[in-house]
Amino acid sequence: MTDKWRIIVGSDDAGLEYKSVLKADLENDARVAKVVDIGVGAEETTPYPHIAVMAARMVAAGEADRALLVCGTGLGVAISANKVPGIRAVTAHDSFSVERSVLSNNAQILCFGQRVVGLELARRLASEWLDYHFDLNSRSAAKVRTLLSYEAGHDLADQAETLRQGEELVRATLMGADDGQRIDGKEQS
Ligand code: RB5
Repeated sequence: MTDKWRIIVGSDDAGLEYKSVLKADLENDARVAKVVDIGVGAEETTPYPHIAVMAARMVAAGEADRALLVCGTGLGVAISANKVPGIRAVTAHDSFSVERSVLSNNAQILCFGQRVVGLELARRLASEWLDYHFDLNSRSAAKVRTLLSYEAGHDLADQAETLRQGEELVRATLMGADDGQRIDGKEQS
């Protein structure tokens, strides 16, 4: 992104009411450069996977920075969006999860369930969401890179096992042979 967000909003018919309100909020927010509504519109019944995958593809292609999606539960749109390579979509209905979805997981897509969360809470969460920026130098960045490696088809399970064995070796070196005492005499929990 530049200094302001380009955001896609989308929903199925079960999320249309919330999407309309959230869209208006985003359009009136100084932190947002552009809002693109990809549907559904009134009287439309496009199933949620089509909307979610379209939004996710646009984000993956760099046409937008983020997407805010709404369906009945927030689950179907998240599952669908996550089918698109490079996309991390979450359903989050509390403040901490919204924060961590960005700061821990670098998720680009936030999903709400209109039948699950109150409208005022959804509006507040969407506003908070705009203030979070993923830090590429954070400890979380390596974990997101690991996630991307799995997505790219690299099976890291062997590496993880090697790492686990290495950690065990270090722990065994620091501990006494079998009495739970560290070699410096301090007991471990
Ligand atoms: C309605 O189709 C409902 O199933 C949908 O909005 C969503 O909740 C699915 O996850």
